[in-house]
Amino acid sequence: MSASRLSLLVLLLGMALIVTARACAGASASRVLAAIEGEPADLVALVESPPLGLPAVPVPARNPMTETRVKLGRKLFYDRRLSFNGTLSCAMCHVPEQGFSQREVRTPVGFQGRFVRRNAPTLLNVAYRRALFHDGRESTLENQVWQPLLQANEMANPSIGFVLDTIRNAGDYQGLFETAFPQGLTVETVGMALASYQRGLLAANSPFDRWYFRGEEGAMSAAARRGWDLFRNKGCIGCHTVAKDHAHFTDDAYYDTGIGYARSMGRAGPSTACVWHRAWKWCQPYHSSCQT
Ligand code: HEC
Ligand code: HEC
Repeated sequence: MSASRLSLLVLLLGMALIVTARACAGASASRVLAAIEGEPADLVALVESPPLGLPAVPVPARNPMTETRVKLGRKLFYDRRLSFNGTLSCAMCHVPEQGFSQREVRTPVGFQGRFVRRNAPTLLNVAYRRALFHDGRESTLENQVWQPLLQANEMANPSIGFVLDTIRNAGDYQGLFETAFPQGLTVETVGMALASYQRGLLAANSPFDRWYFRGEEGAMSAAARRGWDLFRNKGCIGCHTVAKDHAHFTDDAYYDTGIGYARSMGRAGPSTACVWHRAWKWCQPYHSSCQT
């Protein structure tokens, strides 16, 4: 066999291998997908009777949970048309399979590949948070939604009206807001629907909950129990609090833990080059970006 024939054969064999490998990967990926597909949970019932380890869910009187609101909120949450170019949904940064967070990248990627500054916090048990965002700048789930919808590096919509028009013009939303809210589709009801869905994202009844609150001896492994002792004795529990009948593992307060705080608050220290230039005072006027 000539050298060129041999290399052609090797090339073809290689391609066949790649095609087979990809087909296998595809098949196993769809098996994984099939395993996690299921019926939507009844989030209204869950909020009415939260799982072991969680207290009563605070639901604002002006936005009671209803089945239609939750359903509408769920639809909005997974709707990629809600970003300016129709590519990004809430769920792509708050990924359900990743605890409604994003664990693949340090900070998620928003509109047209723009990185955002902070990581996406989990939305599990977000109903209990007293302040929202890493800096606590928002107080209600109802209002919060407009930040990602309008931020240039997240969903990048140019205005509230633009988002309302997108929903109004989408055929599959006809009548849904009118059924869920007496006032129909407004700047407020978009937030109310999304908030209703997110309030239902409760996670508890964990091995810890069953062991600690219900006294199920076998629920926690011996290693996990040793971890619990450390957690208590080293003082973690001072901030990641556990009450008598429920555990949030947070006190909702703000601390400078010394890890990434300056960067996440947009106050990163000067670069090494700036430090060097600063030492040479004569250089500074030429490097205005170093002057902070
Ligand atoms: C581009 C990624 C991205 C998209 C899209 C996105 N988020 Fe977020 N989300 C984040 C990041 C990052 C933060 C933290 C921002 C901060 O602290 O400044 C956050 C914070 C939040 C919080 C506050 C959670 C807490 O515990 O403080 C809520 C609630 C939330 N997002 C809901 C939503 C909803 C609803 C949508 C869709 C309308 C959405 N997000 C779309 C990335 C995203
Ligand atoms: C002084 C209060 C305080 C103490 C004590 C403390 N933490 Fe934290 N911990 C925080 C804060 C604040 C954050 C959030 C940091 C952030 O988001 O930038 C955090 C975040 C975390 C996270 C990440 C949670 C997440 O959702 O990403 C883990 C895990 C954690 N702490 C574990 C521990 C352990 C284990 C201990 C004990 C060894 C401990 N913490 C002690 C305040 C504290």
